[in-house]
Amino acid sequence: MNILVIGSGAREHTICRKLLESPEVGDVYCLPGNFGMKNNGIKLVHINPFEFEEVIDFTKNNSITYTVVGPEDVLVAGIVDEFKKNNLLIFGPSKEAAQLEGSKDFAKQIMNSSNVATASSQTFGDINEALSYLSEVEYPIVIKKDGLASGKGVVIADNLEIANEVCSKFLNETGSTIIIEEYLDGEEISAMYFVQGLNSYPMPFSQDYKRAFDNGEGPNTGGMGAYAPLKQMGVEERKAADKIIEAVLVELNRRRIEFTGIIYAGLIKTNNGIKVIEFNVRFGDPETEVVLPLLESDLAVNILEILQEKKTKFIWNDRLSYVCVVNATKGYPSNPSKVKINAFPKLEKTKIFYSNLDSEERSSGRSFVIVGSGTNIKEAQEEVYKEVPEIPGFFYRKDIGK
Ligand code: AMP
Ligand code: GLY
Repeated sequence: MNILVIGSGAREHTICRKLLESPEVGDVYCLPGNFGMKNNGIKLVHINPFEFEEVIDFTKNNSITYTVVGPEDVLVAGIVDEFKKNNLLIFGPSKEAAQLEGSKDFAKQIMNSSNVATASSQTFGDINEALSYLSEVEYPIVIKKDGLASGKGVVIADNLEIANEVCSKFLNETGSTIIIEEYLDGEEISAMYFVQGLNSYPMPFSQDYKRAFDNGEGPNTGGMGAYAPLKQMGVEERKAADKIIEAVLVELNRRRIEFTGIIYAGLIKTNNGIKVIEFNVRFGDPETEVVLPLLESDLAVNILEILQEKKTKFIWNDRLSYVCVVNATKGYPSNPSKVKINAFPKLEKTKIFYSNLDSEERSSGRSFVIVGSGTNIKEAQEEVYKEVPEIPGFFYRKDIGK
């Protein structure tokens, strides 16, 4: 079979390489992909993913068996609905189901109706109402932009002064709504599931490092590194996560919203149990880079069987651990510079996955990810840090997996 993957990040690079491991797979295309993918036999398709008609024509003309969607923005824009109108197989949720990530308000409604524990929150469109609310709350408090923000629309404000400033800035930028949310304290878990209707298949838990700099300092980013699995989380946490996904799927089903694709629950283990911070409707980035290497079954076949509404069997490696470190250009996330990678790293044991590398080998923001493995996190961490290259113009965190 031939498979099309939509997206251009290190996450899509990882998905494409995993699909190419399958003996059932002929060609893997990535649309638009990036130039860092070319060495791995991935075929790049120079089409804008939002030009749905062109994407659909491409799949028809190239005998694509099915399409996998990486990023949320194309899902929220409704690519899946357009594919379905053309009777084409595509792995991802419809526009309506993608609101689980696209609208924090919709996600809160689903959580409230399915009794899933989450941070209490209020939505504001009016600056004066927001400011008056902020004068009464306890700190720290969390302020979020509604809609998609690539992980950069969240600020944890320690005091009223910062909160006021952030609220005004966000409301000016979005011109619409912000969410002010209770701060939850605890360890975070990225819990991803393959989903088809009411059936779900868990992936091993992983953990992402959201802040830009070591020791959790600096602004929130899309993620600066990750590791999997989480040995500190056991049966109890797994049961709690499964229960959350089941409740959400039942609620979506009750509303006649069909979900096929990935649900990623961002969880936090508080003193009062596991609570949901957010849902995403796609693979996490960089979590995918440490979770998919643990998959021993055939990803291409697993996804095909899900799309055919058959039961499928995922097999996960329980002997290895993976750690990945993201390299970003200086200034990321607020003002990333554009840098040319002059010397491509030579790696012995680790693997590299590229993000948004252009035809002149320039990149901006999160640029490439180095992934190492071992029989435990410490070994994987040692392997990865031995090989992370020092390239002028880039920075990376030195404490991933600690
Ligand atoms: P989000 O974009 O909603 O995933 O938030 C990004 C990051 O902000 C999360 O991974 C957390 O680290 C942090 N965060 C978001 N909401 C909360 C909350 N209610 N309490 C504590 N931390 C939060
Ligand atoms: N790494 C967080 C995300 O993919 O949303």
